[in-house]
Amino acid sequence: MADTSLPVCHALWLGGKLGPLEMACLASFVRHGHRVVLHVYGDVGPVPLGVEIADASRILPPERVVRYNHSGGSLALFSNLFRYELLRRGMGIWIDCDMYCLRPVRTGDVHIYGWESEVSVNNAILALPPHSPVLASLIGLFDAPSSTWPWLADADRARLAAREKVGEKLKIGDLPWGATGPLALTHYLREAGLSGRAAPREVYYPLPWKDAPLLGRAGFDIARVIGPGTVAVHLWHTSVSLRIPRIERGSALDRLYTTGLLFDEDRMPEAGGPAPAPAPRPGARTILIATPGWNVAPWRDAVRAVDPSRPLALWPDVGDPAEIAYALIWNPPREIFNGTSSLRAIFCLGAGVDWMIGRRDLPDVPIARIVDPDLTQRMTEWVTLQVLMHHRRQRWFDVEQSARRWRSQRQPAASEVRVGIMGMGELGRSAADILIRLGFDVAGWSRQRHDIPNVRSFAGPDELVAFLGRTDILVVLLPLTPQTRHILSMPLFQRLARNGKLGAPVLINAGRGGLQVEADILQALDEGVLGGASLDVFEREPLDPQSPLWARPNVIITPHVAATSQPAVLAPGILRQIAAFERGEPLQNVVDQTRGY
Ligand code: NDP
Ligand code: OXD
Repeated sequence: MADTSLPVCHALWLGGKLGPLEMACLASFVRHGHRVVLHVYGDVGPVPLGVEIADASRILPPERVVRYNHSGGSLALFSNLFRYELLRRGMGIWIDCDMYCLRPVRTGDVHIYGWESEVSVNNAILALPPHSPVLASLIGLFDAPSSTWPWLADADRARLAAREKVGEKLKIGDLPWGATGPLALTHYLREAGLSGRAAPREVYYPLPWKDAPLLGRAGFDIARVIGPGTVAVHLWHTSVSLRIPRIERGSALDRLYTTGLLFDEDRMPEAGGPAPAPAPRPGARTILIATPGWNVAPWRDAVRAVDPSRPLALWPDVGDPAEIAYALIWNPPREIFNGTSSLRAIFCLGAGVDWMIGRRDLPDVPIARIVDPDLTQRMTEWVTLQVLMHHRRQRWFDVEQSARRWRSQRQPAASEVRVGIMGMGELGRSAADILIRLGFDVAGWSRQRHDIPNVRSFAGPDELVAFLGRTDILVVLLPLTPQTRHILSMPLFQRLARNGKLGAPVLINAGRGGLQVEADILQALDEGVLGGASLDVFEREPLDPQSPLWARPNVIITPHVAATSQPAVLAPGILRQIAAFERGEPLQNVVDQTRGY
């Protein structure tokens, strides 16, 4: 039975059947009370008792598997990416399949790594906070292989630079062994001032790489390298298989292969080592719900209806913060995470996570946001309604109706109207889909290009002007981030198409109020730079009753209701996620905290 106060250990196996070394190593973590999850892409044959199997494609699809273009096409390269991606989802700790456990990993810390030598921190056992900049930098390496990485050896740098010079685009598999692993990890930890948190060599790497061949020699007593602080021993599998031609009888490896034990654990020196950090409260299960500005009761009732056995805390009555395992939040107040030492994940009850901006009090746990068909459908309805209101000039007809006048005016076909959607995420893509079906000429703007049938995709600041220049109706479904704040201002409005069939361009914003400069919207409406607007979000909410926006003709105002989160619809999905997370599965829709959405 796994000890729930210990971190769950995750490993990956890609190479067919597990060998005896890997079997023994994985079993050693189970023996010491850890839950062990082995991620695999296919059948790996028998696994040690107690090891759980998980589908690796839930972390990264098989198409992402990459190999070194040297070192016999080793998959160690991919295993680096996999562990970083897994940690980004806050799932537990990473262990290589050749890490042998001698004591439970009981640090209670979110930073787990150790020196393998005087100069290098290895990643064979690794934990980092999900939104750690170190992790983000390590993942980013796989998108931008370069000869200029400062941790490369001079000879490697020169060799790779020579290839770039003749026009060759480097692939990640061209980079040398360790370049995305220990070398990069050590560099980024140093840069972040975190290398001091690496455990001393004795803790995880008491056997140096160069001594790995000793494991096959009968005269070598592994007890000699194990100290009071040793928690695990990295067995350097590649070195073992490549550098040990013959395993002698009575050697450490002989014992491991025949008994599954590396070492007679009765001979373990008294545990000592560094003082453990305060441990989270074992068995904490409470869900905290905090929704300042929203009525909390429907959320409480919806969560209770799904799992009546779950202890709940309703902000501001937090109870014992150490009992809180999950937080369901909307606009969380600053002090909310104080003392939540057992917190495992945060669920934002809306799609937007701009409340994170500038917060330094966020705990080191993953933050998942809402992506749900109900929310998406509601937003798609709102956007479609607003586009049609302007396209069919409904506000003009409303005025005519109130004056009892029977008049018509020319209305262009949908195919003559160019809609531009800023933000082609979950909501933008769904709105685009319906608007295309209505016949509009649709384009999208996002950070990265998206290949969506019938939608012209524009990407990044360089293509913004071209995107605006072909836009008659601008639909904004961007998140609010430091990059997008106040993007909807006069200079942008002036770039919208001036030759459209609607006469003047229209702004429709349901993203966030912080995206817009309301004084500029008013001025643009007054000067005919904009012909109309639909706004669901405002710089300050609720919108001031004195705001001139209320009374502008051809401005449609709704009170941040374009797509409201529905507790009864969303709570079952959140609780399903919690249950899956507790089984060791990854959280869905985890926010990338470095990107800010
Ligand atoms: P997603 O995260 O799925 O999509 C965000 C999109 O914005 C992506 O296409 C992203 O680009 C793009 N983007 C982000 N930053 C930039 C940038 N600097 N430059 C260009 N493009 C950028 O979010 P959702 O679609 O789920 O939600 C969007 C927003 O809608 C939420 O953040 C929230 O603020 C708002 N919202 C409002 C509601 C309301 O009732 N008014 C209800 C629900 C949400 P890329 O694809 O390249 O990553
Ligand atoms: C959201 C919102 O972000 O309701 O979900 O605004």
